[in-house]
Amino acid sequence: MNVSDTVHYVFLVAAACFVLGLHLMNHPRTARRGNTLSAGAMAVAIAATVWLVADEGTISRTGWLVLASGGLVGAALGLYAAREVKMTAMPQLVSLFNAVGGGAAALIAVNDLLEIENAGARVSLPGALDIVIGAVTFSGSLVAAGKLQGLVSGAPVVFPGARLLNVLLPASFVAGSVWLVLAPDSRTALYGLTAVALLFGVTLVLPIGGADMPVVIALLNAFTGSAVAMAGFVLNETALIVAGMLVSSSGGILTKLMADAMNRSIAGIMVGGFGTGDDAPAAAAGSGTPAQVRSVSADDVAIQLAYASKVVLVPGYGLAAAQAQHELGDLAKLLSDHGIEVSYAVHPVAGRMPGHMNVLLAEANVPYTQLKEMDEINPEFPQADVALVIGANDVTNPIARRPGNAISGMPILDVDKARSVVVIKRSMGHGYAGIDNELYTDPKTGMFFTDAKKGLGELKAAVGEFVG
Ligand code: TAP
Repeated sequence: MNVSDTVHYVFLVAAACFVLGLHLMNHPRTARRGNTLSAGAMAVAIAATVWLVADEGTISRTGWLVLASGGLVGAALGLYAAREVKMTAMPQLVSLFNAVGGGAAALIAVNDLLEIENAGARVSLPGALDIVIGAVTFSGSLVAAGKLQGLVSGAPVVFPGARLLNVLLPASFVAGSVWLVLAPDSRTALYGLTAVALLFGVTLVLPIGGADMPVVIALLNAFTGSAVAMAGFVLNETALIVAGMLVSSSGGILTKLMADAMNRSIAGIMVGGFGTGDDAPAAAAGSGTPAQVRSVSADDVAIQLAYASKVVLVPGYGLAAAQAQHELGDLAKLLSDHGIEVSYAVHPVAGRMPGHMNVLLAEANVPYTQLKEMDEINPEFPQADVALVIGANDVTNPIARRPGNAISGMPILDVDKARSVVVIKRSMGHGYAGIDNELYTDPKTGMFFTDAKKGLGELKAAVGEFVG
């Protein structure tokens, strides 16, 4: 067997490992193994590619130098960013990775089309698609990252004629792609198509509200996968096609799941709408607090917790923002050690990105057996003595059961069915959807107005006094 055949078998095994890795990511217990398997398979595929290229001897000494320095700088930056990024800034990082992936895939097609005499007509159709999807992903992901990082306004940016432009630009893709397929050596078609696609990425993402960005990022992630798969067709590389399609299909499924869990259509999100709640003004607790809200102290809550048999903890975005997962884990352990049954209720879109709560709680070494998804925990709320909500708002709002409001139809955690409810948050401020929460004015709800990290620390100390 020659080197080329061996390398292609290696690619096949790597592709199988990608699929297996994705499957293992289905459960928190096996997710880390799945990630390691996929990353290992990618490392082996890259090493095999280097072997193949070295065997073919087509790259000059300068070419090797460029490849090695690019690989080293890219890997070092990626490693640094992934290790240092805060959990709340993860969506921005994913968006930047999408931009890099989409941009790289588009560059492959641009390069091959610039050398069209060598590549032949084989590259023109997948090349045109690669440029369109890759360039849209590149510029769109940069705008999305900018919005999440606060560098670009999180509010929908709409200018006169924006919607018309968003119809005309895709129409020009079709014209540009047909031109490129008919005349693959036309530089005007190549550069024109690239410029239009880059512009469309910007005009597509600018009108979307900052808080809808995680869904957009999942969609752009799916686009990155499609662009990489197209690059695989351009280069005639099976491993790229398989890896790209896996990213594309899993990103597409994730986008759909997220939109469903928010009861929003993907089209509705892409056209722009509500979802700027991260900037929503927060009404201060105290003087501005409506009379029917019952304010409670750490000691009041500690007594309720210490004498409960069953407690359900409901973490939300505020827990992530306060980085209070370790304090919550400590409090839960104290209660469990005292013989109290403790569960965590995890809503699919609690937080600002998919799996946000699972990752945070895993970081605090919370036992997986205590993590319960919405469908599993909802029937248990009526038996819970206390539901302790920490920085979660929209995902607990009973108003979602009624029509005619921003979250109508969004599946919620049935916190209001627990025997008593305690909510930790800093004020009566709104969540992402920007609407009042009826749970807070329910007579059985006590509001503990404080920062999640500080409040949970105080609760742990107070509960410790009661349970000794
Ligand atoms: P939200 O409804 O956004 O509420 C978070 C609450 O946390 C706020 O009301 C805020 O109130 C409180 N908070 C913020 N910082 C805090 C701190 N340091 N300490 C204590 N509390 C703090 O969050 P949720 O219930 O998790 O719902 C998530 C929302 O995001 C849903 O509407 C969902 O549709 C949307 N969304 C989710 C995703 C994904 S994939 N997860 C994607 C897009 C959109 P105070 O300011 O009063 O403290």
